[in-house]
Amino acid sequence: MALTYGKYLEIDKLLDLQNPQSSPAEHDEMLFIVIHQTYELWFKLVLHELEKVCRDFSANDLFAAIHTWKRLRTVMKTLVGQLDILETMTPMSFTSFRDRLETSSGFQSAQFREVEFLLGFKRPEMMKPCEGDAAGHAKIAARLKSRTVIDHFYDFLEHRGVEIPHDLRDKPVEQPTRPSDAAQEGIYQLYRSGAHNDVVILFELMTDFDEGLQEWRYRHVKVVERTIGQKHGTGGSLGVEFLKRSLFQPVFPDLWAIRHRL
Ligand code: HEM
Repeated sequence: MALTYGKYLEIDKLLDLQNPQSSPAEHDEMLFIVIHQTYELWFKLVLHELEKVCRDFSANDLFAAIHTWKRLRTVMKTLVGQLDILETMTPMSFTSFRDRLETSSGFQSAQFREVEFLLGFKRPEMMKPCEGDAAGHAKIAARLKSRTVIDHFYDFLEHRGVEIPHDLRDKPVEQPTRPSDAAQEGIYQLYRSGAHNDVVILFELMTDFDEGLQEWRYRHVKVVERTIGQKHGTGGSLGVEFLKRSLFQPVFPDLWAIRHRL
């Protein structure tokens, strides 16, 4: 029998995964489940694309990297825009089923943490909320011990004549990204030379993506604030106060640090 749309995409399985915990089901719980599942699917794609961009960087394949960052930047815009849909849910409506979430929380999104770690934003203490998810925890642990997008970006910069200091190249992989004067100087020279405008397009796309991730964090804090105010999170954090700590932190600090000189 010919392959059908439903079989290829396993639609039956997919549509069997939305199971509200409230009984009788609160109307908006379906939205809450669908939106989180949709995010997890996009996170899956983001990881897939970031892994590709690592290979593109190390292979010095500029056009492949540009193509991938364009996709990643566009996905990020979608991730931000989707929060508008969630904001149609009132605080009362969320309260009607919030207890059913028990201690489950976005804190436990292993894929979100994988994205952060792969981007070099490594906070090992953030693995703790995922301890109840053995498979997810193992994947984050593997990311902690792996090279990041930034490490591969250094490979690319070296291909383009930028000297990356040894202490940065030999930094233990578990450590988060740290800004580098040498990388900034190299990026600055590539921007200013006039002979590397293709590389400048790459830098701008990476900046778009980084700005998008920061926008997502800001919009998420606002969703949380308008929906639960100053209540603590179901994951046990201070809620809004905790989430505010990671606002405005770039994953590519070197791309931001030089902009006043351009
Ligand atoms: C009504 C909607 C939402 C509320 C009230 C909410 C609330 C919270 C709170 C309070 C936290 C802090 C951890 C805790 O103590 O639980 C958190 C973290 C998180 N949430 Fe949400 N959230 C909402 C929607 C979403 C959506 C749609 C996503 C999409 C995946 C999401 C993903 C995350 C992630 C990844 C974290 C960890 C952030 C970090 O550690 O920096 N949340 N959320």
